[in-house]
Amino acid sequence: MDKVTIWAPAKLNLTLDVKGKRPDGYHELETIMQAISLKDKITIDKANTIIVNSNSSQLSNDANNLAYYAAELFFQETGKKAGVNIYIEKNIPIGAGLAGGSSNAAAVLLGLNHLYQTKLSLKDLAELALEIGSDVPFCIFNRTALARGRGEILSPLPKGHTLNFLLVKPNFSVATKDVFGQLDLDKIKKRPNNEAFIKAWRDMDLDKMAFEMINVLETVTVSLYPEIGLIKQRLLELGAVNAVMSGSGPSVFALFRDEDKLKIAYNYMVSDYDEAYIVSSYFGSE
Ligand code: C5P
Repeated sequence: MDKVTIWAPAKLNLTLDVKGKRPDGYHELETIMQAISLKDKITIDKANTIIVNSNSSQLSNDANNLAYYAAELFFQETGKKAGVNIYIEKNIPIGAGLAGGSSNAAAVLLGLNHLYQTKLSLKDLAELALEIGSDVPFCIFNRTALARGRGEILSPLPKGHTLNFLLVKPNFSVATKDVFGQLDLDKIKKRPNNEAFIKAWRDMDLDKMAFEMINVLETVTVSLYPEIGLIKQRLLELGAVNAVMSGSGPSVFALFRDEDKLKIAYNYMVSDYDEAYIVSSYFGSE
């Protein structure tokens, strides 16, 4: 086998709470993560060095690209004297709070393990993944999960229900490091109750799930970029049960009970935002 193709889905943070700052500088998270149908396609084939190409002019092709960095780390850890030719068909918006880069990195680790028959377990790959970034371990499994610690302590939720979302990415990007850097834990007034969310998830109680869809990082990102607040407002006016920012932003996703309302809302939003998408929960394969 010389060539492998892997799907790399985006993720949403259905809830996101920050419990505190850790001595290592990271923050202690409690977030429910869900992979979605918006995905990149990663093709890798054997080569002598690491080469990255993509259909996006915004992506770098060196170690600043997490896919490149993942390959470098993989060869370093496994001691394989080899390389890989990586092609990224980019569909996930960049710098969006959707873990696009993390998902690409996870796909490269999974693909290389397959291509070079290195037989690392998913647990081994998840450990390697954490060296790349806090969201990367989730992307190894892509199972709906409550993530704690930096994001690597994953407790899967029972096999899920397919939810439909309208996702809107405004025309700017946000650096995660800056958002966490400006987070003031004393300013957080509303936090998600993850236990209540998980109960609602089990019961498929859309209203209760929507009620707990809260992201405490909005206290930073929405203050910096009021447009995010306006997008949330518009989505609610268009009939969403709730609309919330994903990760450190700036993407906003809205949960709809009614598919027709979702389509109408999409038609409105896409006239102002190039990067508006109807997406659904993703549980693997195609
Ligand atoms: O782990 P990753 O490199 O993706 O994180 C990017 C930045 O986000 C970190 O440098 C850190 O500032 C912040 N972060 C954090 N706590 C987390 C995850 C990320 O403070 N649990």
